[in-house]
Amino acid sequence: MAISESTINEIKYRNDIESVISPYVSLKRRGKNLIGLCPFHNEKTPSFTVYPESGSFYCFGCGAGGDVFTFVKLIENLDYIDAVRLLAERSGIAVEEQDYDNSLSKLKEKIYEINRETAKFFHGYLMSDSGKWALDYLTGRGLKISTIKHFGLGAAPDSWDSLINHLKNKGYSFSDMLAANVIGKSQKGSYYDRFRKRVMFPIIDIRGRVIAFSGRAMPGEDKQGGKYVNTSDTPVYKKSENLFGMNFAKNHCAESIILVEGNMDVISLHQAGFQNTVAALGTSFTEQQAKILSRYTKEIILTLDADAAGVKAVKRAGDILKNTGLKVRVVSVPDGKDPDEFIKKHGSARFKAVLEGAVNEIEYKLLTAVGDIDVASDDGKVKYISRAAEIIAESADSIERDVYIGRLSQKYGISRTALTSRVEEIRKSNAKKNRKKEISNIIRPKFDNNAPNPEKRLHPSASAAEESVISVLFSHPDFFEQAYDLLKPEQMITSLNTRIYEKICEVLGSGGTLQISSFGEVLSDSQMGYLVSIINSDRARENPLIVLKDSISVILDEGMKKDRSDIKNMAVDEWAENLERIIKNKKRGSENG
Ligand code: UTP
Ligand code: MN
Repeated sequence: MAISESTINEIKYRNDIESVISPYVSLKRRGKNLIGLCPFHNEKTPSFTVYPESGSFYCFGCGAGGDVFTFVKLIENLDYIDAVRLLAERSGIAVEEQDYDNSLSKLKEKIYEINRETAKFFHGYLMSDSGKWALDYLTGRGLKISTIKHFGLGAAPDSWDSLINHLKNKGYSFSDMLAANVIGKSQKGSYYDRFRKRVMFPIIDIRGRVIAFSGRAMPGEDKQGGKYVNTSDTPVYKKSENLFGMNFAKNHCAESIILVEGNMDVISLHQAGFQNTVAALGTSFTEQQAKILSRYTKEIILTLDADAAGVKAVKRAGDILKNTGLKVRVVSVPDGKDPDEFIKKHGSARFKAVLEGAVNEIEYKLLTAVGDIDVASDDGKVKYISRAAEIIAESADSIERDVYIGRLSQKYGISRTALTSRVEEIRKSNAKKNRKKEISNIIRPKFDNNAPNPEKRLHPSASAAEESVISVLFSHPDFFEQAYDLLKPEQMITSLNTRIYEKICEVLGSGGTLQISSFGEVLSDSQMGYLVSIINSDRARENPLIVLKDSISVILDEGMKKDRSDIKNMAVDEWAENLERIIKNKKRGSENG
């Protein structure tokens, strides 16, 4: 639900940020900004800053930030709509029911329709004579026709416009197709099918709606676009909040859910009778996914690949799942195969046995901690035991610790007492560290500067570049067309910035004015703080055009290979010239009209 932009603007206009905040915080002027003690965390020196110019605030201590609405929301503990209402009341503005527009829900409906139509198109093509190459591939991987139909698998033709033409004939608009992310738009402004010559996996939500697609390249043909091309986040799809296979697994998972890495693993496990299997979409498992699982089942069986990436993924998933109260077991599939390959080679009975012998997380960690250590040597033994002691110390259960201490001391012929006291030492020092963490969590309970965009750690330079793009566009919305020509939202790397950029494109693309308030409903409180800190940073002050251009090429470098050379080869002059032309045309347009 959204309140119309004009109402929001009027409320904002009548409630300037200084007068809204000053009853709560005593503010001192510093240059063009104001500072004070942050009301959202304990501090002795002021790090809470109000920016009257952009109508925003940000605390450098705790990361809280936003506009007037965010401030009222946080300080009065309201939700967004009620914060808007409160400020409206204070200034005598009526928020009418008809102010709630339903354009977003209409767009969502359109996207669901387009996705369903697209899935039908891909499935039809897979089953037709021309789709034989894809059907051969799937059956060659051991899938039965009934399984293929059950999952609604399909194939995208080797063509740039088959889907577009199909959807156009059905009466859908390019902008809706773009919103569904089934097509893309080139720099020159022409549209093209995003999925080409790929086997297509529709992603279906718990209510049975097609919300996204994942397309796999044929073996040896994954140079262009990668092995998988996936739908990026759209109004109906958030990768971090969905699980592949959950639409079927939800009816078979009262006891346990098997979490695997890939879509193919899900499908072949379902075919082999393990219908309680799901996969995180993409490689990293999220808290939201854990929350969903905890609503459906009691136990998670992690069967991730035994390679380095798999070990990391297990650790990550294990850490997240720990907070849900779910029981967690880890299965390492023998010979380092993925479950799909294992089942194909050894059959489902063997896999069932593997599942039943699933080791718990500690055992798994002890197993994999050996790594490349040579435990036959004394040196290696010492190294391994000290790693193992750390792992055992993580267990909160004293009996469990005792069991593993016993096993290790026996296996490696070391004194049980020595190992026990080592483990206890580590526990003590961990407890101290945890207490420190807890204390700092009490001081800053709501916000964590890194938390809003956790992917920053994985992609430090790309995320910094994304932040620059956002910052530049806020202060120079005139650059939008240039930016959009080169960088589409789905080409951004981190999902939070993708979402922010999507909104920017939506607003500026439709001729609107960019303001922080447009994000109040799209972003969480801490994400709002993150956005404000980006906007008020100084990145866009000098040479914004060059900053923008360089940032985009950093992002494209990281994420995409296809269009990259084009921008690199475009000189800054040429770029600026291009921009000038756009601005002139715009001016001429508005003078005439
Ligand atoms: P894998 O590379 O292990 O693929 O990626 P897979 O599922 O085993 O596929 P097959 O068996 O080779 O056909 C695991 C998962 O990571 C995501 C996909 O969801 C995939 O299922 N992934 C992988 C991507 O999203 N993009 C990629 O480029 C690669
Ligand atoms: Mn596989």
